[in-house]
Amino acid sequence: MDERLLLSLVRLAAAFALCAGTTSVAAAPAVPPPESVVANRRFVGEDGAVLYHVVCQGCHMPAGEGAEGAGRYPALANNPKLAAAPYPALTILNGRNAMPALGAFLSDAQVAAIVNYVRTNFGNHYGDAISAADVAKFR
Ligand code: HEC
Repeated sequence: MDERLLLSLVRLAAAFALCAGTTSVAAAPAVPPPESVVANRRFVGEDGAVLYHVVCQGCHMPAGEGAEGAGRYPALANNPKLAAAPYPALTILNGRNAMPALGAFLSDAQVAAIVNYVRTNFGNHYGDAISAADVAKFR
């Protein structure tokens, strides 16, 4: 895992931001420009929604609907596997099969914010939020 992954994720996010201007991607917050989301090879900010749209939506799509084509990107929308917070947290930190590990680019607080965002959006209603301290235990 290296800087190229980080840069390609940011480029994907920027491409989605451009698409969002011309198509009807509902409810996707404006993705900030790349230089404002990455610093010293880390993502910045602790807003789960923004981080999702910068880091995850390139593969899992703007509404968490997932995609099938050249690869299989599972939907996070209405996904019962999100019932247990450690599952998405460990997936983000360590990767899972074709999904790259992202733990090196994200702080514990950022991982927690993303987990809490995906578990309470896209048709998921899991109210038991996790904290940065919880994520730290999984590293
Ligand atoms: C480069 C593409 C890519 C990115 C970026 C990515 N994922 Fe994934 N993700 C995948 C793929 C592919 C899988 C399926 C892995 C497998 O085969 O089990 C997956 C699986 C998952 C799963 C398990 C779903 C299930 O039903 O088992 C979760 C949860 C998940 N990703 C969350 C996230 C979150 C949150 C982010 C952002 C922090 C993210 N992913 C970023 C490609 C990606």
